[in-house]
Amino acid sequence: MQVAVFKNEEEIGIVAAKRVARLIKSNPEAVLGLATGSSPVPLYRELVKMHLANELSFAQNRAFCLDEYVGLADDHPEAYRNFIDRVFTSHVDFQPGAVRAPSTSGPNLKEGALEYEAAIRAAGGVDLQILGIGADGHIGFCEPGGPLNSRTHLVFLTEQTRRDNARFFDGDITQVPRMGLTQGLATIMEARELLMIATGENKKAAVTAMVEGSVSAHWPSTVVQYHNDAIILLDEAAASGLTMRDHYQVNWEGFLETEWTDYE
Ligand code: GLP
Repeated sequence: MQVAVFKNEEEIGIVAAKRVARLIKSNPEAVLGLATGSSPVPLYRELVKMHLANELSFAQNRAFCLDEYVGLADDHPEAYRNFIDRVFTSHVDFQPGAVRAPSTSGPNLKEGALEYEAAIRAAGGVDLQILGIGADGHIGFCEPGGPLNSRTHLVFLTEQTRRDNARFFDGDITQVPRMGLTQGLATIMEARELLMIATGENKKAAVTAMVEGSVSAHWPSTVVQYHNDAIILLDEAAASGLTMRDHYQVNWEGFLETEWTDYE
């Protein structure tokens, strides 16, 4: 795990966007894994900027969203498919049909989950998976207690997750769906590279467990410790519980002005 701590989410957005741009320039057909939630929004903003400046095209890329709520109307603004469209994909040049999310409107969600796994596989797998992290340590919607080797599956959302996400639903937890369909931890771990963004004090416990704790279903994101190409971008608040930061933190001083290739 490469851990890096930055001053604010804008800096993280710039650094993360450089990483994504570097991948797309070296492999224009790269398959991206997209996360929703507020943490990656600064990254998406930077990618849109790069695109509008004619520096980056997504015309040959495909993308798979991590997860989706169950029970929201297709046109609900907080359905993740619509969220990602609003904050990112509709502002760049993905081809029609190139961005997929788990379908939660079909009659058989379990079959839909299997199809989603198959579609990811048929695309050659995800090259770079963008991730956030829940305050309870979930990634995607893989909640605490679930198997560490899960594939795309249906989940019940924890009370904590529904409380945290109520801010997207007029602060009303009763409007937050009780279930989600999410890529599994094993699915996520197959991505060739993970790029996680975590910011803010309420991520401190989850980040500390993920980086310094023992691997456990109690904190699903700890499974990332088994990934051999995971980058964790944090702000000071999210990093504030790390006791051994100096041991694994990458020194990325000057990184904002530099390109990734200068560091490799
Ligand atoms: C949701 C999403 C996750 C996301 C998490 C954190 O539950 N399913 O993919 O990582 O929330 O969201 P945020 O970045 O808004 O804190």
